[in-house]
Amino acid sequence: MSQKTVLTGITTTGTPHIGNYLGAIKPAIEASRNPAFKSYFFLADFHALIKCHEPDRVAASTREIAATWLAMGLDPEQAVFYRQTDIPEITELTWILTCLTSKGLMNRAHAYKASVDQNREAGKEDLDDGVLMGLFNYPILMAADILMFNADIIPVGKDQIQHIEMARDIAGRFNYQYEPLFTLPEAQVDEETKLIPGLDGRKMSKSYNNTIPLFADRDTLRSLIFQIRTDLRQPGEPKDPDDSTLFQLYRCFANEQETAAMRQRFLEGIAWGDAKQELFEFLDARLTEPRTRYNELMNDLGHVETVLKSGAEKARAYASPLLEKARIAVGIRPLTYIATAPVEEQKKKEKSAEELERIEQGRLRAVMIQIQPLLDQVKQASDPAVEARQVLADKQAEVDGAKKKARDKLQNELDLLQQSLQAYL
Ligand code: TRP
Repeated sequence: MSQKTVLTGITTTGTPHIGNYLGAIKPAIEASRNPAFKSYFFLADFHALIKCHEPDRVAASTREIAATWLAMGLDPEQAVFYRQTDIPEITELTWILTCLTSKGLMNRAHAYKASVDQNREAGKEDLDDGVLMGLFNYPILMAADILMFNADIIPVGKDQIQHIEMARDIAGRFNYQYEPLFTLPEAQVDEETKLIPGLDGRKMSKSYNNTIPLFADRDTLRSLIFQIRTDLRQPGEPKDPDDSTLFQLYRCFANEQETAAMRQRFLEGIAWGDAKQELFEFLDARLTEPRTRYNELMNDLGHVETVLKSGAEKARAYASPLLEKARIAVGIRPLTYIATAPVEEQKKKEKSAEELERIEQGRLRAVMIQIQPLLDQVKQASDPAVEARQVLADKQAEVDGAKKKARDKLQNELDLLQQSLQAYL
């Protein structure tokens, strides 16, 4: 069984906090040590421009995030670690994919819809007011990030699942329209670590302003931990560990025995002040070493730059030939290019049953996207049975009228339409 490719990116707009570390960085670094996977981790700096127009913030965040991954133990020999903008192939693929992606698919993206909803609620006449094309096109750039490396598994937060679905749709459409070059990726959401509470007990997130920076100095760390919200229970009163942000943060860094011991102390009524002091000492002890490494790296950015450049070289070694195939597939070719048909046949034979099944699934999805408006039309018709017959007759007429290549494509659509509309006939 060949290695599966795991890929994930982090947008370079913020300063890494404990939530980022536990939710994304730590599991990714662990996965990179597993030889069953090939890992691609990258700094999504073009994504940063979508929501941040402060150049210094983007640049600072890129340094901080790069140094954080290395300080936390990512071995750049075990994972391909790179900066998105060092891979021009990704941007080039973005355009090829943009030319295949229907606007309707992008209209449904949550991030765009949220902006539209805000405008609607604010009573604005132009629902696209303030919406930039970067935000609108963002899922296509993200699809290119993923497809460029034929990634199988994409560990992401829940809010990103839709984007992975869109990347699948886009890959399916390319594979169907041109050549089956791209793997259909799958999102992987880690249910266990998804909720790291912040200072106020809500999910730790930059947008709630409740984060604990991973590499805050000792004094800042202490003062932040002492800000964590607790209730009025007195020392000696039993406290519910599962309802306490202090305990939740503690257990994220602790092993089983340590967690069990701390749970016991909560049940026995540890004072909040003591619990805070304990959490502080515990976190500080665990973060001291990586913090030192982090500060060293931040003082030696030339080294970090070299690591990223060497990661980019490895990433491009994969991306460049694949992009070349995609260019050829869509018709961007050297003038002297001559297709070599037998190679095509051979390639098909070499594919495993699993791969073929995946390609077939992708093909069906892509056809489904094409015919979805017709299916909706039938569903909404006053007499769906009549409408279904009409739709099928129209498609049949299209098939009959088409030239050879177009006819195969239309015939596929007709076949799937016939299956899908069976119930109405
Ligand atoms: N959009 C992702 C986020 O905001 C970051 C990202 C960009 C990403 N490209 C990606 C994640 C590709 C996974 C795969 O969290």
